[in-house]
Amino acid sequence: MPDTGSVRLDRLESWVGQEVRVSAWVYNIRSSGKVVFLQIRDGYGWVQAVAAEKELESVVWQRINELTEESSVMLIGTVSKHPKRSEYELQVRDVTVVHRSEEFPISKKEHGVDFLMDQRHLWLRSKSQWAIQRVRNTIIKGIYDFMEEEGFTKIDSPILTPNACEGTTELFELDYFGDTAYLSQSGQLYIEAAIFSHRKVFDFGPVFRAEKSKTRRHLTEFWMMDAEVAFATHEDNMALQEKLIEYLVKRALVRNAEELACLERDTKPLEKIIAPFVRMTHAQAVKKLRSFGSDIKDGADLGGDDETLLMQQYDKPVIVERYPAAVKAFYMKRDPEDPSLALCDDMLAPEGYGEIIGGSEREDDHGLLLQRIREHNLPVKDFEWYLDLRKYGSVPHSGFGLGLERLVSWICGLKHLRESIPFPRTINRLRP
Ligand code: 4AD
Ligand code: MG
Repeated sequence: MPDTGSVRLDRLESWVGQEVRVSAWVYNIRSSGKVVFLQIRDGYGWVQAVAAEKELESVVWQRINELTEESSVMLIGTVSKHPKRSEYELQVRDVTVVHRSEEFPISKKEHGVDFLMDQRHLWLRSKSQWAIQRVRNTIIKGIYDFMEEEGFTKIDSPILTPNACEGTTELFELDYFGDTAYLSQSGQLYIEAAIFSHRKVFDFGPVFRAEKSKTRRHLTEFWMMDAEVAFATHEDNMALQEKLIEYLVKRALVRNAEELACLERDTKPLEKIIAPFVRMTHAQAVKKLRSFGSDIKDGADLGGDDETLLMQQYDKPVIVERYPAAVKAFYMKRDPEDPSLALCDDMLAPEGYGEIIGGSEREDDHGLLLQRIREHNLPVKDFEWYLDLRKYGSVPHSGFGLGLERLVSWICGLKHLRESIPFPRTINRLRP
């Protein structure tokens, strides 16, 4: 049955008073005996279709009464507008059943998250899950648009890699024809190579971490956007991160008002996300944390709980910079004023969402980088190509990685990252 000529349910506005054809799914059915109210959705919009017995041929009326929730249908009806709200309705004249659904496992009553996650392939149809994926799509498109406006070229980094990027404890290892390969933790090292060709580059794709943690902020497969810029300093890097996040939050507020309302997201906190954000050094953050009662040690990395505690005070993102080099990755450039520190930053989101971005200026000196690789006990042989980049026209350069699911969860106000990605992977979930 061809779908040509169907009107989108989010575009009924221009069809008021006219008869249209729509192709959709029935997500709810109510009946008053003589009138059946079908709630339908077509991927774009959610509207009510009203079928009245006295207006319909008896075969059509019968077909409507045999409909089940989640059945797929083609409907012909006249569009009317709600007298006050900008809501539209269809007065049904004819129905064709494309497929009559079996009893749908997800009912309108409350289900536990584990059950819903087992039914993820079906749960994606619910309105809240639809809204989340629409926001995610807006963010993805927003990233591409922002990067293009800022003069970046997209460079695709490999997923199968022979070496670690972010520490060796969280690697997914696999046999690669007798050799060992790892699933990429971040495309950073590879896109660093591309700045010498394109100056400003980014990648955007799935990355993998064998995270043993069961927190609401960790997935084992998630999407990261890595950005890398030649001739850029740590300061330039932080300014770019702020600009990007401000842009993406604004974009979601403008394009997804309906979706955020459906998620009952209070958008006031998001409206305050305007650069410049709050900045502090790691040492200042530690001091603040102690004043809030934390027992964090001077040289320690911030854990998830520290991030949450620190952020209670702020309604804008906080950029924590210059962490002790000892707790950060091998490639980070040291602070010339205190070489025990790295020229790096983590951006923490407000409202308890934790780190959304991690970035740094990179070590651009061949000798120093080689020393760091050795200090971290990394196999020098597998980093020869990366060291090469410091031999031929090396430049100061900086970059960062943005975790898509952390950002989407924050913007949507989700309790757990698992709803921000269509098919989440965590330590205890590989299915469906
Ligand atoms: O801070 P990370 O580990 O930084 C890097 O991988 C750098 N190589 C990026 C770069 O400089 N190009 O990861 C970046 C971001 C984090 O800030 C966080 O938002 C997200 O990725 N992230 C995770 N998101 C979901 N689940 C996990 N297990 C995550 N680990 C990191
Ligand atoms: Mg990090």
